[in-house]
Amino acid sequence: MLSQPQGKLTPGAVLLDRFALLGRVGVGMGGETWRARALDGSADVAIKVVHHGGLRLRQHLDLLREAAILRGLDHPHVVPYLGVVDLPGTSATYLIIQWARGGNLAGWMAGRGRVPAARVRLLGTQLCAALDAAHQAGILHRDLKPENVLLREPDPETPHLLLADFGIAQRMSQQAADVSRPAGSPGYSAPECWRAGTVTAAADVYSLGALILTLARGSPPPLAFDGMLPDLDEAEERLNRVSDPDLRVVTELALAMLAREPELRPTVAEVRAVLEGKSRSVPRRAARVATLPPTSRRRRRWWTIVAVAASLVVATLTLAAVMAWAAAS
Ligand SMILES: Nc1ncnc2c1ncn2[C@@H]1O[C@H](COP(=O)(O)OP(=O)(O)OP(=O)(O)O)[C@@H](O)[C@H]1O
Ligand SMILES: [Mg+2]
Repeated sequence: MLSQPQGKLTPGAVLLDRFALLGRVGVGMGGETWRARALDGSADVAIKVVHHGGLRLRQHLDLLREAAILRGLDHPHVVPYLGVVDLPGTSATYLIIQWARGGNLAGWMAGRGRVPAARVRLLGTQLCAALDAAHQAGILHRDLKPENVLLREPDPETPHLLLADFGIAQRMSQQAADVSRPAGSPGYSAPECWRAGTVTAAADVYSLGALILTLARGSPPPLAFDGMLPDLDEAEERLNRVSDPDLRVVTELALAMLAREPELRPTVAEVRAVLEGKSRSVPRRAARVATLPPTSRRRRRWWTIVAVAASLVVATLTLAAVMAWAAAS
C-alpha cells in the first residue's frame, strides 16, 4: 500500500513513498496543486491532488481526463506529463507533472509593464505552437490565461513557455459547451464559452488574443461590461495612438483575435504567420470588425451604463419602500 497522508496535506508529508511535499502552489475548483521533491533527489514535480468522497466525483473524473489529455500531448510547449496515481483504496487521485521552475506567466509579467513587441511575437508564437498541437489532437484548452502558462526556467528574458492546466479542456467532438461547467476566466474566455452552443478552436484564439494584448499593453485585457462581451472601444482608441509600427501590428492582431463572433477571428495558423513576420497584414475577415464605427459602440456603451445605473436606482428605491413598509407594519 502506498503511503498517503491522512486528512489535510502539509509540507514535509511523504506522498506515494516517493515525494516529499514542499508547499502548496495553487488551489482551484478541481483540487490543490503542490510542489514536491522526489526522495531520490532526481527532480521536483508538481502534483495536482483531488481528494475522494463527498461531491468530488466530478473533480476526480476531471483530473483523470486532464491526465489523459496531457499524456497524449507530447510537445515542447506543453507541460510534460509524468504520471497519474488513481489506485483502488486510495483516498485521493494524483496527477504528476514536471515542475516548471519559472512559475507562471502572470508572475513573470507582474511589475514588468509593457513587453516589447518583438518578445510578444516570440511568446505568442510558442503558445500558437502549443495550441496547434492541442487542436491537432482534437483538444480545446478553453482556459488560456497567464496563470495557466508556465515558465520552464526562472526569470529569463525570453521565457520558454509551457501551456498547462487542461482542467476544463474539452474534446472537439463534444460539440456543445457544457454550461454547467466553469466557462473559463473573465477577460480571457471567449463570449461563446459563457453561453450554450458550439465552442471551437476560435475560443482559444480569443484567449490568446487577450493574452497578447495584455503583454503588449502591460495591463489586463478589456473586461466585459455588457453581459460577457468585451468592450474594445478603449483598446481601439489606444491603438490609434500607437506609433511603433511593430507594436501596432501586434495590437491590431490581438484586437482581430478578440472579435466577438468566432468565425471572424483569424485561425491559429494565420496568427502565427503574422507573429513570425511571414504575413504582414492582419487577416481581412477580422478587419471588418475593427472598422465598425467606434461612435456607435461608444453610444451603446453609454446606454448600457445608463440602463445599469437606472436599474440600481429602481432596485434601491424598491428596497427602501419594502423596508419602510416592513417597519410600519
Ligand atoms: N508544473 C508546474 N510547475 C510549477 N508551477 C505549477 C505547475 N503546475 C501548476 N503550478 C502552479 O499552480 C497554479 C495552479 O495550477 P493549475 O492551474 O494547474 O491548477 P487549478 O487547480 O486548475 O487552478 P485554477 O483553478 O486556479 O486554474 C498555477 O497557476 C501555477 O502557478
Ligand atoms: Mg489554473
